[in-house]
Amino acid sequence: MDREGEKLHRDQFGDTFKWGVTTAAFQVEGSCNADGKGPSIWDTFTARKGRIKDGHHAGTACDFYNCYQQDVALVRRLNIPNFRFSLSWPRLLPSGTGQANRKGIDFYNKLIDSCLENDITPWVTLYHWDLPQALEQKGGWTNRDIVSWFSEYTHLCARTYGDRVKNWIVLNEPMVFTGAGYFLGLHAPGRTGLKNFFAAVHHAVLCMGEGGRILRSEVPDAEIGTTFSCSHIDPWSSKPRDIKAAVRADALLNRLLIEPVLGLGYPVNDVPVLKGLRKHFKEGDEEKMKFDFDFIGLQNYTREVVRYSLLTPYIHAKLVKAEHRNVPLTTMKWEVYPAAIYHILKKFEAYPQIKKIYITENGAAFPDTMKDGKVDDPQRLQFIRDNIAQVLKAREEGCRVDGYFIWTLTDNFEWAEGYHPRFGLIYVDYATQKRTIKSSGKWYARFLLGQNRVA
Ligand code: NOJ
Repeated sequence: MDREGEKLHRDQFGDTFKWGVTTAAFQVEGSCNADGKGPSIWDTFTARKGRIKDGHHAGTACDFYNCYQQDVALVRRLNIPNFRFSLSWPRLLPSGTGQANRKGIDFYNKLIDSCLENDITPWVTLYHWDLPQALEQKGGWTNRDIVSWFSEYTHLCARTYGDRVKNWIVLNEPMVFTGAGYFLGLHAPGRTGLKNFFAAVHHAVLCMGEGGRILRSEVPDAEIGTTFSCSHIDPWSSKPRDIKAAVRADALLNRLLIEPVLGLGYPVNDVPVLKGLRKHFKEGDEEKMKFDFDFIGLQNYTREVVRYSLLTPYIHAKLVKAEHRNVPLTTMKWEVYPAAIYHILKKFEAYPQIKKIYITENGAAFPDTMKDGKVDDPQRLQFIRDNIAQVLKAREEGCRVDGYFIWTLTDNFEWAEGYHPRFGLIYVDYATQKRTIKSSGKWYARFLLGQNRVA
């Protein structure tokens, strides 16, 4: 263990700091058509040829639907006090609205109860990208009616689980599911173009506001948040045109979805093309977009380096890929750059409207292998430790960051990349569903016990 690791201790964060781990329904549950579940846009997308690397699909995934008790027991075994997972909208409402699915409701009742029996606090994400296919047929996120569909779903979840779940997250990374799903076509539902993107963005923002208000009225004693993807952005050079390109990329990737929620509107001054969002406004939307969240969840994995490019439409800025920059990479080809999380915390800390920040996801994929029944993953262990050290640095400088959740518990289905990237603290042998705790998982367990100094 290096010096940094030795110095790091749970006590340095205080008693109330929330330590956790995060998963998402579609990535782990499997049982895609079991017990009355309706299809989601990801079931449809993964069935389309050429969309997912090597044709992988999530029909079984980690079989969490059947193995949840074992996995909750593993959360406990790793001494992790907070478990964030998402609800599958089409498992609860197979057609998106209307008739609820009793067996789906029972599944999450059992999962939540199992957490509580194990002294684990459940953190529930309402939407982690698996929109009911029936709603996509009606336009999905591009149809303004999504605000009322999502409200119905939120009411159902809050009324069903709000007696036991006191930590709620409305949307997971809206920039990613609108950008990759409705602009670039790389994620479900595979739609493209500015028109779809703007509609999806505006409706996602309205849903964050509406979801927040519904949860507050249905579960008044809950802590309510929503999460955003964010990457620290550096300009490629000190040339003014690269610096300005970095500002535009930052506005698009880091500010677009959060600023309207904070009451600041869309960052149109920095990215004029965003004026196109106006087309989707109805009277009163400025107010509806706002919600005073108890916390903001930030999800950071890396930094981006940005340079000016005339060839990139709309923003004239392009990402310089990490693989061309001679830097250490994860399996996702993302740069290993732990200081990114520190810079991100400082950046969001500067918004006075944000009351509290939790890092609701952070982690890394590396090519893990099983040897003699063990999985040794020193790179992940180092990554996590270095990132936690950066969170501590920000906190010691007064940043109001109050929690840190690792992505993720077990290796799982990584969207368009299939099962290739392994992000878990626990290795999954997909042929047998056998779980093996990696050395990073053992380290986190010791750290959470406050024993890493003696390990
Ligand atoms: C963020 C997403 O919320 C999660 O679903 C994904 O697997 C991780 N990033 C890693 O890419």
